[in-house]
Amino acid sequence: MKRHESLVPLSRDHHEALLLAQRIRKGKSVASRSDWPEDRGLQRDRLVEYFDTRLTYHFQAEEDFLFPLADHHLPPEEAITVLLRKQHGQMRNLISELRTAQGVQLENLLLRLANVLEEHIRKEERVLFQRVQKKVPEEVLQQCGKQIEKFLHSSKMTPSDE
Ligand SMILES: [Fe+2]
Ligand SMILES: [Fe+2]
Repeated sequence: MKRHESLVPLSRDHHEALLLAQRIRKGKSVASRSDWPEDRGLQRDRLVEYFDTRLTYHFQAEEDFLFPLADHHLPPEEAITVLLRKQHGQMRNLISELRTAQGVQLENLLLRLANVLEEHIRKEERVLFQRVQKKVPEEVLQQCGKQIEKFLHSSKMTPSDE
């Protein structure tokens, strides 16, 4: 199913975040000309910066605009927002632990974060977004898309360089 235009900004973020998660899992970038560092400390710095400038606003946009819509228009067992909110919480906690972690602990936290992030995004893309596109009325989804766009714009996010 083609992604609805209202959800495209979130899907773009997902694409970027998945690349980041893959790089963390592999330890280095798959693209040979990439400037992704092999040092875990430097990887942490990149990840934390990405979280602080992008992902934290992405989570908030979903929690403020998209999840309430899913809760309202989908049956509770289909909305899966309890799980998704819980994963946001797990990732926020992992990021705050990551900020000062070192050595083996840093390695473990990076891998855990990458795993949760990947699983979370796949759930949103393959399950939540599909259901939302099918069941939420067009004009409501349009309105939600505008709110998300306005919010992300006001959080001063810059377009990705990827
Ligand atoms: Fe999310
Ligand atoms: Fe998301």
